[in-house]
Amino acid sequence: MKKVEAIIRPSKLDAVQIGLKNANIPCLTVVPVKGIGLQKSYSESYRGAEQTKVLQTRVMIICVVSDENLDTCIDVIMQNASENEVGDGKIFVYDVLDAIRISTKVRGSEAIR
Ligand SMILES: Nc1ncnc2c1ncn2[C@@H]1O[C@H](COP(=O)(O)OP(=O)(O)OP(=O)(O)O)[C@@H](O)[C@H]1O
Ligand SMILES: [Mg+2]
Repeated sequence: MKKVEAIIRPSKLDAVQIGLKNANIPCLTVVPVKGIGLQKSYSESYRGAEQTKVLQTRVMIICVVSDENLDTCIDVIMQNASENEVGDGKIFVYDVLDAIRISTKVRGSEAIR
């Protein structure tokens, strides 16, 4: 199992969620976040050093998926989150040790099916 954390533009959330659902990846967690990446926006660099402390409003989508679904999950997020511009976001992937579905007590990859 893998955990996918995608930090994207809030305006892309609906499209990403629909895309994931259509790809049979319906389970996700969404967290409002603020952050900054490598590439400063035009307005930030234009206005000078003061603005480099300004954090961008983004949303983080968290999906725990089977190894089999990992590439699909990443592809769907990339297709739907992109404006082909800096600031489109980042995707991080982690190994997941275990998952437990509390209602059924099922553990492991069965718990996310
Ligand atoms: N290395 C990182 N660690 C943690 N969060 C990050 C990292 N890089 C980016 N982020 C988060 O992702 C958000 C979007 O990043 P962004 O797309 O601007 O990345 P970037 O590195 O600046 O690349 P780009 O040049 O495409 O803009 C940031 O606001 C921040 O919340
Ligand atoms: Mg950036």
